[in-house]
Amino acid sequence: MSIGSKGAMPVVKTLKSHYAKARQVMPGGVNSSVRFNHAIGTPFYVSRAKGSRVWDIEDRQFIDMSCAHGAALLGHAHPATERALRKAAKLGYAHSFETEYHEQLARELCELIPCADRIRFCSSGTEATLHLIRACRAFTGRDKIIRVEGHFHGYHELIYIGGQPPAAAFAGNRSHPFVESPGIPAAFADFIIPVPFNDVPAMARAIAEHGHEAAVVILEPINFNSGGIMPQPGYLEAVRQLTQDAGIVLFFDEIQSAFKKSPGGAQAEWGVTPDVCTIGKAIGGRAAAVGVLRAGGDHGSVSTRGTRAAQRHVQRASHPGLVRARLSTGGRQTGFLRAAAETGKGFPHRHGPNHPGA
Ligand SMILES: Cc1ncc(COP(=O)(O)O)c(C=O)c1O
Repeated sequence: MSIGSKGAMPVVKTLKSHYAKARQVMPGGVNSSVRFNHAIGTPFYVSRAKGSRVWDIEDRQFIDMSCAHGAALLGHAHPATERALRKAAKLGYAHSFETEYHEQLARELCELIPCADRIRFCSSGTEATLHLIRACRAFTGRDKIIRVEGHFHGYHELIYIGGQPPAAAFAGNRSHPFVESPGIPAAFADFIIPVPFNDVPAMARAIAEHGHEAAVVILEPINFNSGGIMPQPGYLEAVRQLTQDAGIVLFFDEIQSAFKKSPGGAQAEWGVTPDVCTIGKAIGGRAAAVGVLRAGGDHGSVSTRGTRAAQRHVQRASHPGLVRARLSTGGRQTGFLRAAAETGKGFPHRHGPNHPGA
């Protein structure tokens, strides 16, 4: 939303010429598909940011309604964040070692998140779900993934299938899960079992049929990625019981819901404890997600590596006030989100290449 005095939003020459140059050296001229802004016909180029405001390269001021897709709930350049960043920089910009702050932050999160016994820090939500699905498979010795339609769990081959098909593919999604990006081999779809959200009988049927080969049931306890659809009363409890009875790992992807809904995530709010969860984005302040492994043990033999894993988390750990501050920022639901939430189930909106979390 433009609030500057320099007028509304004509696509000015500078934006266009910058975009033309960017396209010469970056595919699509951007580093995430969502950053191409269809409304203005170029990406939005930021020159500075402070508090709730961002300025474009024409020096026009805007309210940042995007908040880094939920990662920047404290706004930009908060003095406490800046202080923590300066402190963290002294630990080294990038290295391949642990610091004492990793353990401190992990301990604090274990206290907050009901299912968390141990934490593995990652650098993005996509990375966190990838590692954790692999751990679920290693833990159960099974390969299949029961996933919920309309829910989103990252862009990797394991799960970017059958979640948000285009309308034309809705009908066939349950028999032939829709592969959501060119480049993902069709064979990955053999591992995916899509079920509708808020539909206990459908989940029970999927588990009855595939329980013996399913490693995990993964879902967003609040379906932020289809507009903030709430679980219907009793749904999460029923899925908890079904997975427990079948020995399937219950995985809550709380990359969106953690810290927005309540300090302990949606799982604390609803009193349903999954076996494992991923949390983000607010925890990283900018770019982060956290894999939380429960289900007993270290999963020490599962390979989950990352050169920069958790480097940004230490910024927060060096300032204990930040997590607490984030906890009180509340959820982000626009009118559209609330309207979509009222539909209760299904996938009312396809994000496509401009997925909000891209
Ligand atoms: C629920 C959920 N899981 C996973 C992801 C992937 O996170 P990232 O964009 O950090 O890779 C997102 C991103 O929006 C998300 O909303």
